[in-house]
Amino acid sequence: MRIIVTGATGFLGRDVVRRLASEHEVVAVGGRHPPPGGVALDLRRPGVWRPLLDNWRPDWVVHLAAYREPDFCEEHPDETRALNTAPVVELMRELPSSSRALFVSTDYVFDGEHPPYHEDSPRHAVNVYGQSKIEAEDAVLARPDSIVLRIPLLVGSGPTFESSGFLYQIVGALRSPAPQTADAVLRRFPTWIRDVAEAISFLIARGFAGIIHYSGAEAMTRYDMIRSAAAVLGLDARHIRPSTDVVPRRAARPRDSQLATDRIRSLGFARFTPFAEVVRSFADDFPEAMAGSR
Ligand SMILES: NC(=O)c1ccc[n+]([C@@H]2O[C@H](COP(=O)([O-])OP(=O)(O)OC[C@H]3O[C@@H](n4cnc5c(N)ncnc54)[C@H](OP(=O)(O)O)[C@@H]3O)[C@@H](O)[C@H]2O)c1
Repeated sequence: MRIIVTGATGFLGRDVVRRLASEHEVVAVGGRHPPPGGVALDLRRPGVWRPLLDNWRPDWVVHLAAYREPDFCEEHPDETRALNTAPVVELMRELPSSSRALFVSTDYVFDGEHPPYHEDSPRHAVNVYGQSKIEAEDAVLARPDSIVLRIPLLVGSGPTFESSGFLYQIVGALRSPAPQTADAVLRRFPTWIRDVAEAISFLIARGFAGIIHYSGAEAMTRYDMIRSAAAVLGLDARHIRPSTDVVPRRAARPRDSQLATDRIRSLGFARFTPFAEVVRSFADDFPEAMAGSR
């Protein structure tokens, strides 16, 4: 099959391209940066889809490109809709009936007050980011053969140690000797980017249609993740204390937006890599940066 992947230069997109390219012809689309062998396109520009779709005639469009930093989105609501929503509406208008779309959404479409959330649970976002994804989901779901895949907090290795998001931040906190506190309130479900790439490949191969949730299986606060990473890496975490004060941020966060995974499990998908194993893999990916740990 021929598959267009947007957001191909992003944290998740790189692994999705790698996984899908092992079986399919992939057209990788970046934003500011062209991915290796792919193209860079500003998807906020109206009219951008038609030539792309005419040129490549894809079987699938896997749409990942988005602003995903909730505080940025809260401060830039128009800009957020210009990337997270408007291009999705245009994609669904332009997509020929011979092509299908898989859209990656978020657990932040839920308010976090009534977990766990199933695919048909009512959506209610507490921030601009979540709302922009709800509006995009609606456009995608207007075509019943589409997939909306909701995922929570992603962890894994970026192209460099410093661009490895959450795990890089955690190692930084562990290595800094200054006394610190870490959030012990918000329950997150850290989910490995490689598992998500595998889930996307699985759903496409199954020809699934509709809404589906995928999530790591362990509920962890930021404090829990720090403790777990410290144990794996052999680093001291005694200078970090749990905090039950919710730190005020620009964008509100759901307290616990756990995604129920019964549906994807019932389809036969069974890959749920534990957080400690993800940390081990991260350390293996960056041996020089991690020297002195473990
Ligand atoms: N990261 C998480 O924890 C998380 C959790 C739940 C859901 N998600 C969803 O998963 C998807 C991928 O997230 P991610 O973490 O991989 O995001 P990311 O690392 O921030 O990557 C964003 C991607 O979007 C592209 N992009 C940005 N502006 C663009 C524009 N104007 N036109 C075209 N492309 C543009 C970027 O390309 P350039 O860098 O080349 O500009 C990059 O490839 C998103 O839809 C996000 O909402 C992520």
